Amino acid sequence: MIAPAMIDPQRFREIMASFPSGVVVLTAFGHDSLPRGLTVSAFCAVSLEPPLALACIDKSSNTLPAVQHTGGFTANILAAGREQLARRMATKVADKFDAIGWRRPESPIGGPILDDDCAAYAVCTLRDTIEAGDHWILIGLVTEGSHRDGVSPMIFSRRGYG
Ligand SMILES: Cc1cc2nc3c(=O)[nH]c(=O)nc-3n(C[C@H](O)[C@H](O)[C@H](O)COP(=O)(O)O)c2cc1C
Repeated sequence: MIAPAMIDPQRFREIMASFPSGVVVLTAFGHDSLPRGLTVSAFCAVSLEPPLALACIDKSSNTLPAVQHTGGFTANILAAGREQLARRMATKVADKFDAIGWRRPESPIGGPILDDDCAAYAVCTLRDTIEAGDHWILIGLVTEGSHRDGVSPMIFSRRGYG
């Protein structure tokens, strides 16, 4: 069988960048109990009953071992105006969480909650990890969460924040 032709990666990026998304800081705790996290746009709901959500994480992410160690993660849906935080969490620096306020979730499973910077958050227990190309799809059972009335979420589209 002939393999189907694949679209050029740059064109693929441009197509996908035209689909607006929110911006999530996905967090977990490392073996040293310190917070880890990264900026993610690939986050969405999967199921209502049970409440499942997914995030797609690059295999090279330094946050992945922390998600495995924690057995879950927290999806912090950023509030509008948090571009600086989104950019910082999209780097590989070791001190990403310095000068950022966070707290532990009530459940033992889940990552840091960034109350002051998010419009909503969802604490997830890792339910499935599916390999997909150069990413892992993390499917989490949402066990805890909240949203802040009157706080608008950040929108990301065509490489711009709105
Ligand atoms: C707006 C935005 C959206 C991003 N979305 C994703 C994503 O969905 N999945 C992903 O793996 N990386 C995504 N990234 C890139 C990661 O944030 C970046 O590679 C980060 O440095 C990974 O950090 P870590 O290695 O410490 O986990 C995104 C970056 C930005 C700025």
